[in-house]
Amino acid sequence: MKTAPSLDELVEMVRAGAKYQAIHPDLVRRVTEQELSKGRGLKDTVKAARSKLHQMGGAYMDTSIDYAQWTKELRDLPADLSAQAVREVCLRWMRSHASTRERLPFLEDFFRQTLGPLGPLRSVYDYACGLNPLCLPWLPLAPGAAYHACDIYADQIGFLNEFFAHFRLSGSANLCDLTAAVPDTPVQVGLLLKTIPCLEQFDKTAGARLLAAIPAEHLLVSFPARSLGGRSKGMVDNYEAHFEDLIAGQNWRVQRYEFPTELAFLISR
Ligand SMILES: C[S@@+](CC[C@H](N)C(=O)[O-])C[C@H]1O[C@@H](n2cnc3c(N)ncnc32)[C@H](O)[C@@H]1O
Repeated sequence: MKTAPSLDELVEMVRAGAKYQAIHPDLVRRVTEQELSKGRGLKDTVKAARSKLHQMGGAYMDTSIDYAQWTKELRDLPADLSAQAVREVCLRWMRSHASTRERLPFLEDFFRQTLGPLGPLRSVYDYACGLNPLCLPWLPLAPGAAYHACDIYADQIGFLNEFFAHFRLSGSANLCDLTAAVPDTPVQVGLLLKTIPCLEQFDKTAGARLLAAIPAEHLLVSFPARSLGGRSKGMVDNYEAHFEDLIAGQNWRVQRYEFPTELAFLISR
C-alpha cells in the first residue's frame, strides 16, 4: 500500500517549482502545513500552497529578475545615492515589482509628506520590503543612518545586501517570515507598506500582532487603494475601516495620507 507523503516531501514538491525556490523555506513549510490540514488530496494541496505563496509575494513580480545582471550594473555606479545615474537605475529597477512601480508617480511626495517632518532619519526598518529599499535616494536620511529590511525572497535579500554594501550603508537585509516573528531591532521609523493584506491571507491576526509588536517609535503603514488589476472597488473605505479596527484601544497618535494608489497612516507612540 502506498503511504501518504510526509510534510517534508510535500514541501519539497512545492519548492520544486522555479518560482518558489527562493522563498523562505520556513514560510513554504507553514503554508504547506496549513493547506495540508484542509484535507485535500496531494496534488491539490501542492497547488493550493503554491497559489497562497503566489498571492503573498509572487503576484507582485510579473517578470523574473536577473539579480546577477543588476549586481553587475550596481558595481558600475558611483557610490553616491544622490547621483543622477543612481536615481535613474533605481527608478528602472523599482518598476520590476508592482508595489514599488505603482508608487513611482508620487514617490517623492509620498516620502516627503509622510517622513519629511521626522527627518533626518537615524534608523529605519523596512518590513516585507520588496524592492522599496531602492527608494533610499528619496528618503530624508541622516548621514550614517542605519537601514534594515526584510522579506521572504533569498535572491532579493542577497541583492539588497549588495546594494547596501555598495553605498556603504549601515544595516542589512534579512530573510524573515513576519507571520512567525518580528525582527527585534529597535528603530526610529518602521515601514510596513501595503503588506498587511498579504500577511492576512495566511493569518487573520497578523496585522494587529505586527502593529503591536514592531519596535519602532513611528510606523508608516499603508494599504493599496487599487487592486493589482487597477480597480478601486471601495478599497480606501474598506482598508480605512480595517485599520481603525486594528488600532482600536491603542493610545497612538495617527496621521492619515491619501495618494492616488495608496492609503497611508503614520502611527507615533
Ligand atoms: C505588496 S508587497 C509590498 C512590498 C513593499 N513593502 C512595497 O510597498 O513596495 C508585499 C510584500 O510582502 C512580502 N511578504 C509576503 N509574505 C511575507 C512574510 N510572511 N514575511 C515577510 N514578508 C512577506 C512579499 O514578498 C512582498 O514583497
